[in-house]
Amino acid sequence: MSNNHGDPAETERLLGFGPERKKTRRELCAVLFTAVLIVSAVIGIVSIWLSLSHADSYEKRNVILMISDGFGPASETFARNYKQHVDKLDYNYFTSLDEILVGSSRTRSSDSLVTDSAAGATAFACALKTYNGAIGVNPEKVPCGTVLESAKHFGFATGLVVTSRITHATPATFSAHVISRDMESDIATQQIGDYPLGRQVDLMIGGGRCFFLPNSTSESCRVDERDLVKESKERGFNYFSSRKEFDNLEPGKDKYDICNTYHMSYEIDRDSSQEPSLKEMSEKALKFLEYETADSDKGFFLMIEGSRIVKKYVDEHPGTVMISVSDHETGGLSLARQDSGNPEYLWYPEPVSLVKNSSYILSKELSKYWNNDREDYIKDIVRDGLGIDDVEDHDLSWLNQPRSQLEYEYYLANITNYKARLGWATHGHSSVDVNLYAYGQGSEALRGNHENIEIGDFIVEYLNLDLDYITEKLIRHVIKYTFHQATDSTHFYKRDHHHCNHK
Ligand SMILES: *[C@@H]1O[C@H](CO)[C@@H](O)[C@H](O)[C@H]1NC(C)=O
Ligand SMILES: *[C@@H]1O[C@H](CO)[C@@H](O)[C@H](O)[C@H]1NC(C)=O
Ligand SMILES: *[C@@H]1O[C@H](CO)[C@@H](O)[C@H](O)[C@H]1NC(C)=O
Repeated sequence: MSNNHGDPAETERLLGFGPERKKTRRELCAVLFTAVLIVSAVIGIVSIWLSLSHADSYEKRNVILMISDGFGPASETFARNYKQHVDKLDYNYFTSLDEILVGSSRTRSSDSLVTDSAAGATAFACALKTYNGAIGVNPEKVPCGTVLESAKHFGFATGLVVTSRITHATPATFSAHVISRDMESDIATQQIGDYPLGRQVDLMIGGGRCFFLPNSTSESCRVDERDLVKESKERGFNYFSSRKEFDNLEPGKDKYDICNTYHMSYEIDRDSSQEPSLKEMSEKALKFLEYETADSDKGFFLMIEGSRIVKKYVDEHPGTVMISVSDHETGGLSLARQDSGNPEYLWYPEPVSLVKNSSYILSKELSKYWNNDREDYIKDIVRDGLGIDDVEDHDLSWLNQPRSQLEYEYYLANITNYKARLGWATHGHSSVDVNLYAYGQGSEALRGNHENIEIGDFIVEYLNLDLDYITEKLIRHVIKYTFHQATDSTHFYKRDHHHCNHK
């Protein structure tokens, strides 16, 4: 490992007092969370049910933790209703998730009833409640050992698979420790192993390449000149950036990293000749991790953001437990939208089923085209993209005015939402309990209503991990630094003073 233990600059980055500024656009979940997005999530549901008895206890253990960012109970119902509509299924149809519902997860963070993705995922990663924005640090901004790091320490293989940026809050909480989710340059630096623990993630697949490229290149969104692609290669990790390179990755040959530029495309917009699907990435990851651990008595820990496709894998590998849970609900989605006094007890999946592109993609088109025949162009966009032949006059004249891309995006989404009678109470997150799904050995322990941190506890217990040990390792290093150099984090320094005296 090429850690420079005790290097003040190193630790500065770890704590997040480094060069990172609020540079990146903050994630706007609401933007992503159009009805269109939900449709794409439905497509990922593969319904396979093979009933196996899990009476035996398997000692070689794997954990697959799937975090469906922003999915509340209404989204799950939406998915079922939608699938029933499209596939003409009976009322008593069960989705593959319905089959494995075990309970619910309570999502609040330490400083708000409404969590963000950073605190929401840190609850799973460190098994503790923390403040919104925290990446792998506790409410006092002290780094906390994660299930991924502890698993790595005990000889498990580790992986992160996402369609967002790999430096985005959810995957970041497992593999980095910074005081703010916006510090994505620092997160990337830690993810390639340049922090006190060294490289902890055996494989990372997802978007976010720009945070790994030096700021002197046009594609970069880093705050400094470091070339993390190069540095990661020097650490023995392969890097891929195209569909072809992804396809060519073979277990035993490569260790591998990042693909794509920013967030990867929504499933509905994805060009399969350019980008692998989440399903393909997950399958590839499972293949690699299985290969890596073939001769070991330890299995692996894999976090997949946003999917539900691996039940079959659990059936075939009985030491595996799969947990699927959201970090929080988004949008206050309601499956009905009664505006007036007259009861309207219905919602229509049909308008949603006609959508061909995300409103994000369509809004980009609308922002670009200002020729004289713009009206016709708008009609084309609405017809081809949303499946609506007769755009209303007031919609047409609204869309014909110059607006921001975001305004177009919301407006387009609302056209379909209104026709479907879907309501959204917020553009952000909400605090409702989310559904908890689990399948495989030991999953009975997750029955009932749980705090999100108990899902972290469950993983610790299942893999027999020790998070405190990792926390101590992280803190020891940090304290050394705060002794050397006074920073604005004096409360942090004081709080952990006694740790130093022990040594
Ligand atoms: C690139 O990073 C260097 C520090 O490594 C900094 O001095 C410079 O201002 C950065 N340039 C841009 C365009 O951000
Ligand atoms: C919308 O989706 C269709 C079908 O996948 C595709 O052919 C078309 O190029 C997409 N439109 C935009 C604007 O991306
Ligand atoms: C959505 O569309 C409906 C029908 O045109 C309209 O009444 C409503 O104000 C719109 N809502 C938003 C938030 O734009």
